[in-house]
Amino acid sequence: MQTNAIGIFDSGVGGTSIWKEINTLLPYENTIYLADSRNAPYGPKGKEAITELSIKNTEYLLTQNCKLIVVACNTATTNAIDFLRANYNIPFIGIEPAIKPAALQTQTNTIGILATRGTLSSALFSKTSTLFASNIKVIEQHGDGIVELIESGKLFSDEMTKLLKQYLQPMIDANIDYLVLGCTHYPYLMPLLIKLLPQHVKIIDSGAAVARQTKSVLEQHNLLNTSLVKGENTFFTNSNTEVMQSLIGTDYTVEYLNF
Ligand code: SIN
Repeated sequence: MQTNAIGIFDSGVGGTSIWKEINTLLPYENTIYLADSRNAPYGPKGKEAITELSIKNTEYLLTQNCKLIVVACNTATTNAIDFLRANYNIPFIGIEPAIKPAALQTQTNTIGILATRGTLSSALFSKTSTLFASNIKVIEQHGDGIVELIESGKLFSDEMTKLLKQYLQPMIDANIDYLVLGCTHYPYLMPLLIKLLPQHVKIIDSGAAVARQTKSVLEQHNLLNTSLVKGENTFFTNSNTEVMQSLIGTDYTVEYLNF
């Protein structure tokens, strides 16, 4: 069981930002990554549709005997992880926006959060926000269109810069000093965000924390792969392979899979 793969799924290519953190911390683990890019973005879909897609992804990963599943998508986590945990007998790791560290460290008492509509409108997001950020101002901004541009290979495009300027300005005007990235696609925006935000604004995402949590849950369940052989990393997408290939680099191969 320890040598079985960690399954990772996302609405598309964004969750590879989480895979990179997991692979850095746990290089001996085998991983299988599923990019459901044909159904991206999940953000504008309703809870029921997001849950159905999450079930489909989970069922495939279970056919591959995955020992643990990382739901590397904020929207799927906030809408479907309770269902998955209640219905499948393996551990699930979810991604939640890093509101807590931002709320604890802000000096201006104002933080920004950029996430999909599906995440911002979820009950889990509102619970987390109330729990950790009720004493500060949280500027919520939906990132409509960002995932679509990344999925179509337009990460560093004029359209993306224009969208980001529009989304960031209200946060800059409100004097945020932390920007929380609430979607696993968004870490790929880092070079643009650094350019567009004032220098004092810190940007945080959940990737490293998710990798640590994955390790800790594997240890708790005695599932950590103790072999000292570099793990195999398999990447599947149900859409075009080029975009994902450009994000993960040429050391790995992306395969098309009709799931
Ligand atoms: C999306 O599919 O809309 C974004 C995925 C995420 O929330 O991480």
